[in-house]
Amino acid sequence: MRRLLLIGIGVGDPAYVTVEAIAALNEADVLFVVEKPDERRELVRLREEICSRYIEDESACRIVHVADPERDRGAQAYRSAVEDWRRRRADAWEAALAAELGPDECGAFLVWGDPSLYDSTLAVVDDVLARGSVSFEHRVIPGIGSVQVLAARFRIPLNRVGGAVQITPGRLLREGWPAGVDDVVVMLDATSAFRVVADEGLEIYWGAYLGTPDELLLSGPLDEALMDEIERVRADARERKGWIMDTYLLRRRRQVR
Ligand SMILES: C[S@@+](CC[C@H](N)C(=O)[O-])C[C@H]1O[C@@H](n2cnc3c(N)ncnc32)[C@H](O)[C@@H]1O
Repeated sequence: MRRLLLIGIGVGDPAYVTVEAIAALNEADVLFVVEKPDERRELVRLREEICSRYIEDESACRIVHVADPERDRGAQAYRSAVEDWRRRRADAWEAALAAELGPDECGAFLVWGDPSLYDSTLAVVDDVLARGSVSFEHRVIPGIGSVQVLAARFRIPLNRVGGAVQITPGRLLREGWPAGVDDVVVMLDATSAFRVVADEGLEIYWGAYLGTPDELLLSGPLDEALMDEIERVRADARERKGWIMDTYLLRRRRQVR
């Protein structure tokens, strides 16, 4: 039976690659490398460094490049644009697995951070399996995601006593503060969604490039000065490096629930 390993590799620092992930990397006969059209050279280099540092015999592992289809980020209908993109990803992965993974071989995909959070790998693999043309067993190896690194950097727990935490994309925060929570982690915020909720009496814990040598951290009461500072630091960094990934926790100063 074919096997497929979906390996979380952490969010930057090769030290975040777990012992389980290293064992999985060394189990793979074929490493499927998904190449995004706009992928940053720096992230490719990091993936290469992880492989060369941890795979004991790289010559025993075939690398297969799988081109990731373009995603229509300008589409009005967000959900249908994502579904269309996932379907085209499943087409590409199904074809690669059928052509490149032998009946008794083990394949692996490397996943940024942890595969369970804002990553479509697991959904795409489920789609491929549901189609029924290629069959395989699969296993997920957890990784250290940006949210855990953010909390560790600020030396804070994500929840407060008996409280809930919500993780949301910036797109939804722009619709307003979510009901029923005092602590919200925001990811995938290309703009400054925190401005929409600035009058909620919040603290912000903001981190960019977490786990990399360029890591940036800012925190404090979410007032005009700090929002300006975050925007300035973020714009400078994006300009300097050409890309940015940032995550933040918004915390109500007075816990209501
Ligand atoms: C497609 S999601 C992937 C999340 C990933 N699976 C994880 O576990 O962190 C990309 C978002 O994750 C966050 N992110 C990923 N890596 C990051 C890093 N090194 N520093 C800060 N935020 C990061 C950002 O919010 C970014 O927009």
